[in-house]
Amino acid sequence: MSEDSADRIVRFYREADEASRLGTGWFQLEHARTQEVILRYLPPAPGTIIDAGGGSGVYACWLAARGYQVHLIDPVPKHVERARAASCEQPDPPLASAEIGDARHLPHADHSADAVLFLGPLYHLVEREDRIACLREAYRVLRPGGLVWGVGISHFASLLDSLAHGFFDDPQFAPILDRDLEDGQHRNPTGNPLYFTDAFFHRPGELAREVQAAGFQILEVLPIEGPGWLARDFHRLWADPIQRERLLTAVRELEREPSVLGASSHIMAIGLKRS
Ligand SMILES: C[S@@+](CC[C@H](N)C(=O)[O-])C[C@H]1O[C@@H](n2cnc3c(N)ncnc32)[C@H](O)[C@@H]1O
Repeated sequence: MSEDSADRIVRFYREADEASRLGTGWFQLEHARTQEVILRYLPPAPGTIIDAGGGSGVYACWLAARGYQVHLIDPVPKHVERARAASCEQPDPPLASAEIGDARHLPHADHSADAVLFLGPLYHLVEREDRIACLREAYRVLRPGGLVWGVGISHFASLLDSLAHGFFDDPQFAPILDRDLEDGQHRNPTGNPLYFTDAFFHRPGELAREVQAAGFQILEVLPIEGPGWLARDFHRLWADPIQRERLLTAVRELEREPSVLGASSHIMAIGLKRS
């Protein structure tokens, strides 16, 4: 990854409120579904989990509270500080560690982890070779039988987001969208934080191929939000327990329908390091 890209990502997150994101709007669906899919495969505690790109520690602290030894790394100093603060607020048990770092160079020993989470690095690393390097690091640190959860952003996310949320006709967004659809390389020269920062948006299938290229056996590739993030009246639906459950059930059922994988904002691949 070019230094420019890394710098822009750090600058973006310095301004963004990543710590509260998962508690707002459709990100609540992302949060609930990510937890659900992590728990589907995670072996029972205790075990060691590396959350690389763990941000401010929402998932890492949740997993530590469930009895796992969780190590978080993230390149954004503000995120690591927040993760440490959140860890201090749940001292029993806290995170095992929270350090500044890069998913391409995990500071962990070979065969030392049961699970690795990449809920961020695989879309922020814009070059394929960097994403593969990061996945190979997961392979190195995992014990045989260990698992990686890798999240990508859909190639079609900008198109769907702009249509559903009213900025398709913003002339500043048009060239961003054109490039996203052309080669998946998302760049935002506008300074508008709504339009995110440097990222690569995977086509359905591409993410799984990268996970396989690093040596993993693919267990599952699935939508995190399905089309639920595009709901016209998300707040109302999510606030109603019956509608919320209907939405979650519908998304779960779409896990078996690969033709709509690209309609999800996030796609998750789960890979196994064979024994
Ligand atoms: C949208 S946030 C997601 C945070 C958290 N994992 C979550 O799912 O809520 C993306 C995260 O990826 C991190 N990131 C970006 N490039 C990275 C890299 N090369 N290595 C590790 N983390 C990276 C960012 O700093 C940020 O915290």
